Amino acid sequence: MSLLRPFTIAEQIDEAASCKTMRFIGTLHADPGQFVMIWIPGKDEFPMSVSYTGEAFGVTYKIIGEGTQSLSAMKPGERVGIRGPYGRGFEVHGRRMLAVAGGAGMAVIAPLIDMAIEKGAEVDLVLGARTESEIIMRGRCESAGAEVHISTDDGTAGAKGLATDITSQLLENATFDSVCACGPEKMIAGVYSMSKKLDLPFQASLERFIKCGIGICDSCAIDGMHVCKDGPVFSGEVLATLDDFGKGRLSPSGRRLPLD
Ligand SMILES: Cc1cc2nc3c(=O)[nH]c(=O)nc-3n(C[C@H](O)[C@H](O)[C@H](O)COP(=O)(O)OP(=O)(O)OC[C@H]3O[C@@H](n4cnc5c(N)ncnc54)[C@H](O)[C@@H]3O)c2cc1C
Ligand code: FES
Repeated sequence: MSLLRPFTIAEQIDEAASCKTMRFIGTLHADPGQFVMIWIPGKDEFPMSVSYTGEAFGVTYKIIGEGTQSLSAMKPGERVGIRGPYGRGFEVHGRRMLAVAGGAGMAVIAPLIDMAIEKGAEVDLVLGARTESEIIMRGRCESAGAEVHISTDDGTAGAKGLATDITSQLLENATFDSVCACGPEKMIAGVYSMSKKLDLPFQASLERFIKCGIGICDSCAIDGMHVCKDGPVFSGEVLATLDDFGKGRLSPSGRRLPLD
């Protein structure tokens, strides 16, 4: 079990409208897809995927509610508590990968692309966002060597439509060895079903409500598995066994809810 450690904020970088990256002084090694629990003293504790691993590690977050608003108000020199890294991350399979990221899911996919390219794989990235101002980390992935395909719901950048539309075209016109995804679960479910039809190895990172982060409290349960420990990255074979995948989740108080 990883103990809570204090880390000092080195910088806060604006990535896009309502999205920032926080880099820390210090080193934390994590596999792409693994997450840390960030504790803001007196405020909140919540999970964040590691978007930069190693020295000056970092997390990239969308400002949504109280927790992430508090995080965005913090200044370099201030400290947060960090536990982790936790969970299972992505693996690289084969020589050509199709990665699909929706919105802030890009923060999880970016370090995966770095790792895949470092291991000699070619990567096509589908990067979907609602609108141009919400696109993040495009330059990072292009510099790493990925072929980037943008889609926006409103057509302000790239192809107009959903990330799943371009994904379907790419899967029809090119040959891939594996497919990885992170973003809204409805998007993940769409990409999973296309990959399954083509019998391609698939992995995706899921989100559920995380409290302990270490497989004890059950708040992140999905059909008998724990997102915090068995995931957050699951293979297609495991997703096929989860009835709630793409359909339902537990609320913070444990009530079953449909997916948004
Ligand atoms: C494994 C994992 C990795 C994540 N990585 C990232 C990331 O890299 N970048 C990012 O922007 N977001 C990430 N999230 C989501 C992030 O934890 C929530 O968006 C954040 O906690 C919102 O908190 P809030 O108080 O600002 O918003 P609130 O308005 O309080 O919450 C907004 C939404 O976030 C969910 N949420 C709040 N707290 C938690 C929690 N402890 N566990 C799970 N969901 C929560 C709520 O259910 C709600 O749907 C991740 C979630 C999980 C489970
Ligand atoms: S968050 Fe407690 S079991 Fe997963």
